[in-house]
Amino acid sequence: MKKIILTGDRPTGPLHLGHYVGSLKNRVQLQDEYRQFIIVADMQALTDNADNPRKVRENVTQVCMDYLACGIDPSKSTVFIQSLVPEIAELAMYFFNLVTVARLQRNPTVKAEIAQKGFKTEVPVGFFVYPISQAADIAAFNADLVPVGEDQLPMIEQAAEIMLRFNRIYGEEVFVKPRALVPEVARLPGVDGQTKMSKSLGNAIYLGDSADVLRQKVMSMFTDPNHLRVEDPGVVEGNPVFIYLDAFDPDKERVAELKDHYQRGGLGDVKLKKHLVDVLDYVFGPIREQRLLFSSDVGYVENVLKEGTEKAREQATLVLSRVRKAMCIDYF
Ligand code: TRP
Repeated sequence: MKKIILTGDRPTGPLHLGHYVGSLKNRVQLQDEYRQFIIVADMQALTDNADNPRKVRENVTQVCMDYLACGIDPSKSTVFIQSLVPEIAELAMYFFNLVTVARLQRNPTVKAEIAQKGFKTEVPVGFFVYPISQAADIAAFNADLVPVGEDQLPMIEQAAEIMLRFNRIYGEEVFVKPRALVPEVARLPGVDGQTKMSKSLGNAIYLGDSADVLRQKVMSMFTDPNHLRVEDPGVVEGNPVFIYLDAFDPDKERVAELKDHYQRGGLGDVKLKKHLVDVLDYVFGPIREQRLLFSSDVGYVENVLKEGTEKAREQATLVLSRVRKAMCIDYF
């Protein structure tokens, strides 16, 4: 029996290069070896977009297009919509009893997001408890492995904690302990040099960006702020252009030479960025073209979601019947 992967995204916007290095690439590689479920977490997206359901709806399809364009193959991976698998919501309800308010308040990802979104004291309950609902996403599939970006580590840790607690209390080995898989490449900075590429920070390059938009974004990218003249020596460490080259340029020797040249002086930012444009076109050009094809066949994309959701529900139903039995609520 193949081991199970559960991973996914909030459909709040199309996916970007940060998602690609953060988890999409891993997912494409792992889909042969694992039974992979990919959740389009629309309920989680609604936890901080309750007043914007149309945005979430539209992005469910967009995110699925991103998956397919990157090489997620529906015959190997099951892509599904969270809200259409009500077993997840049911399991979240049981999990609510196993977590304290204090423990949720300590979750660093939630803490950071609450600060970033400017909720102050007006945090929606649904948002506050989303780590528990995310634990249910993972547990409803009894996943062994969860490939995610580094910022999600506290979530997986808390999920594992909840599942082990469930096992302890209900006296059965219902859940296996899920393991997070984070990528080798550290997180990708935004084009503005901020440490994280994110839609809400407005500093992202999207998988669906046209060649022109991609070029514009790269040419406006933040580099070493003290590298004013071409002759000046420049700093490579922490320089977003080099972080991108490290992440995407398949020719490592060439990257090493460019770094050398930049540090010596004599390599201008414009020339360097033009090289990065070429590299990104090489890696993402084919993905962009695939994406264009899928965007002209929305019916196909929606069907991938429909069939995936049916398959996902079968699996969650199996797990939930074991959960109910363990909890003595398998009435009739
Ligand atoms: N919280 C994840 C994100 O923001 C998305 C997500 C929802 C997820 N449920 C999940 C990731 C379950 C992994 C496993 O990217």
